[in-house]
Amino acid sequence: MRSLVDGYLSHIMDECHSDRSGHVADYIPELAAVDPEGYGLSLCVHDGHTYSHGDSATAFTIQSVSKPLTYAMILKKHGAAAVDAKIGVEPSGEAFNEISVDDRRRPKNPMINAGAIFAASMLLPPTRDVDAAAVDAAFREVLEFYSGCAGRHLVMDEEVYASEAATGSRNRAIAYMLDSFGALETSPDAALDLYYRQCSIRVTTDDLAGIGATIANGGMNPRTGRTVFSNETAQRLLSVMTTCGMYDGAGDWVTSVGLPAKSGVGGGILAVLPGQLGIGVYSPRLDEHGNSVRGVEVCRHLSTDLGLHMF
Ligand code: DON
Repeated sequence: MRSLVDGYLSHIMDECHSDRSGHVADYIPELAAVDPEGYGLSLCVHDGHTYSHGDSATAFTIQSVSKPLTYAMILKKHGAAAVDAKIGVEPSGEAFNEISVDDRRRPKNPMINAGAIFAASMLLPPTRDVDAAAVDAAFREVLEFYSGCAGRHLVMDEEVYASEAATGSRNRAIAYMLDSFGALETSPDAALDLYYRQCSIRVTTDDLAGIGATIANGGMNPRTGRTVFSNETAQRLLSVMTTCGMYDGAGDWVTSVGLPAKSGVGGGILAVLPGQLGIGVYSPRLDEHGNSVRGVEVCRHLSTDLGLHMF
C-alpha cells in the first residue's frame, strides 16, 4: 500500500512538473545531450529508509554537488586550520565560475569552482610534477569516499569527463590564475584533471538523498551504518552549504527554503535537514544561477508544506 509520504511526494512532483522553464547546461557539450524531461525525487530518512519517486534511478553527473564531499576529504586529511589558511568560507555573491578570491588571494569558499579546484589540489601530492599515477590514486580515494557517503559503489562517466576536459577553458583560467598567485602546491593541470573527474561521477537522486542523510547524521551513512567523516566536518559542510551552496542564489534559497543545499549543473540538488533527512532532486533545466529550476521548486514546496525551514 502506498504510504501517506509517497502520496504527498508524488503530488509535489505533479505540482512542479509543468514548469519547463530554464535550459539544460550546454557549455559542457556532453551535458547538452541529456533528456531535459528527466525528473526524480528521493528522501532518505534517519534510519536509511528511502522514498523514491520519478526517475530516481536515472544516473546523471554529480557536478558541483561533489564540492562539499571533496571539502570533507581535505578537512579530514589536513584539518580545518590548514584548510582555512587556503580556502575561505565567505559567500562570494558571484557566479560559480568567477575567480572570486579574497584580499589574501584565497578562493572565497569551497563551493565555487576556484575553491573546489583548490580543494582538489589538496588531495594530490604537494609537488609540481604530479604524474598520472598520482592523479589516478587520488581519484580512487575520491571514488571510495563518495561511494561511502552514498552507500553504494559509484563510477565515473567517461564521456562527460572527456567533454569537460576538452572544453574547460574557464576552469583552466581559474586554475592558472590561482597558480599565478603562487597558491597551488601541485600543478594546475593535475588539480583540474582531478576536479573534472570528481564532477563526472554518476549519481542518482537515491544517491544524493543517501549522501544528504549521511551529512544529516553527522557523517554516518544510515544505510550502511558506516561513519565516513566526523561530526565536526558535517557541521562545517552544513554551514558552508547554507551560506554558499546555491551560489548567487543562496540568499533567496535560504530565505525561502531554509535548508543547507548544493546544486550541480547536471541538474541535481542535494538538500539536508540536519539530524533528520537527506533530499535528492533531479531535473536538468537550470536557472540563471546554474540551479535546477524544478529542483528548487520541489524543495520550496517540501520546505513550506512540511515546515522544514531551519529558522
Ligand atoms: O566546473 C564546472 O563548470 C562543472 N564541472 C561544475 C559546475 C557546476 O555544477 C555549477 N553548479 N551549479
